[in-house]
Amino acid sequence: MITTKLPKVGTTIFTVMSALAQKHNAINLSQGFPDFRVNENLVKEVTKAMNNNFNQYAPMAGFMPLREQIAQKIEKMYGISSNPDTEITVVSGASEGIFAAIAATVRENDEVIIFEPAYDLYVPAIELQGGIVRHISLSAPSFRPDFEQLKRLISPKTRLIIFNTPHNPTGTTWTTEDLETLDSLLEGSRILVISDEVYEHLIFDNQKHQSVLSYPNLKERSFAVFSFGKTFHATGWKVGYVIAPQKLTAELRKIHQYITFSTVTPIQVALAEFLKNEENYIHLADFYQEKRDYLCKLLAQTNFGFTPTQGTYFQLVDYSKISDQKDTDFAIWLTKNIGVASIPISPFYQNENNNSAKILRLCFAKNNETLEKAVEKLSKL
Ligand SMILES: Cc1ncc(COP(=O)(O)O)c(C=O)c1O
Repeated sequence: MITTKLPKVGTTIFTVMSALAQKHNAINLSQGFPDFRVNENLVKEVTKAMNNNFNQYAPMAGFMPLREQIAQKIEKMYGISSNPDTEITVVSGASEGIFAAIAATVRENDEVIIFEPAYDLYVPAIELQGGIVRHISLSAPSFRPDFEQLKRLISPKTRLIIFNTPHNPTGTTWTTEDLETLDSLLEGSRILVISDEVYEHLIFDNQKHQSVLSYPNLKERSFAVFSFGKTFHATGWKVGYVIAPQKLTAELRKIHQYITFSTVTPIQVALAEFLKNEENYIHLADFYQEKRDYLCKLLAQTNFGFTPTQGTYFQLVDYSKISDQKDTDFAIWLTKNIGVASIPISPFYQNENNNSAKILRLCFAKNNETLEKAVEKLSKL
């Protein structure tokens, strides 16, 4: 018979909450996906690519015109040049990119440092490689990274550090100073970095996204991972890309070619066209900031506490004035009795002691009408 390789992994909280939302006909602010449409022109480009017979395997590393457009976008945004041939790989979602980067670098008993709450893919991917997870807890209300703790955790066994900015689920963003501190802590070490930047465009209040790519020493040791799903409201397409120096890219591709070999062709062809016009992505922060502000304006009339999120399309809310229940219990209660599905924060932590905060995550990538209906229900509490 079979002994599981991932004994701690069950059904994810996203699946549980979405199923519960459906069963109770609740407004679903749980899973992170937009309920508005993909740009019509992008959909037309996909149809055109299919009609033009771009339906067979794409090159393993990605459709070259798309990689060239990605290089131009990166240059425009972060002022650095990257070689489409040797440093850019198109992958089937950021998830595949992160998994492949972990598989390419982590060996049995290597230590990997992550910041918790963490995106749920990181820990199982590390453990499948026999790696050991060391975590730094980000604590409410600020969820800022503690670099003193990071310094203490770094050991000769540390192989990899994974961080995520703007951060899911807390919305925290790393500053220039944070990246400079990380850079100096890693100086002279052989430690590699995965920088999960899938929410690069979703950053508010005139902040500039701090990509690992803008820091030359960090860039040399990093896999920077991005997602078109987040940028173009098309999470179901699962197309992303990884930027890494040539040597790291070569190892990443060895894994990528045996996970998926290559990524869906017509969508790559369509994205190559769509990216030519920067108007298609530079206004995203304004668009989502309006949504955030609208949700916060509505929430101000409720008993939920909150600080406007700095990035991503997630807003954390504190329900300590409303209930003493544990966050998972309260999220289930809220779905069944009030009709709003959210995501509790504790499943993003491995350590039970770090999740006593009474906080839920709401996704605001939704039409205003959906947000209004949800908050109308929440205001009953
Ligand atoms: C922090 C983070 N990283 C990675 C991903 C995965 O992105 P993709 O859908 O492109 O695989 C997500 C998706 O929710 C995410 O929130």
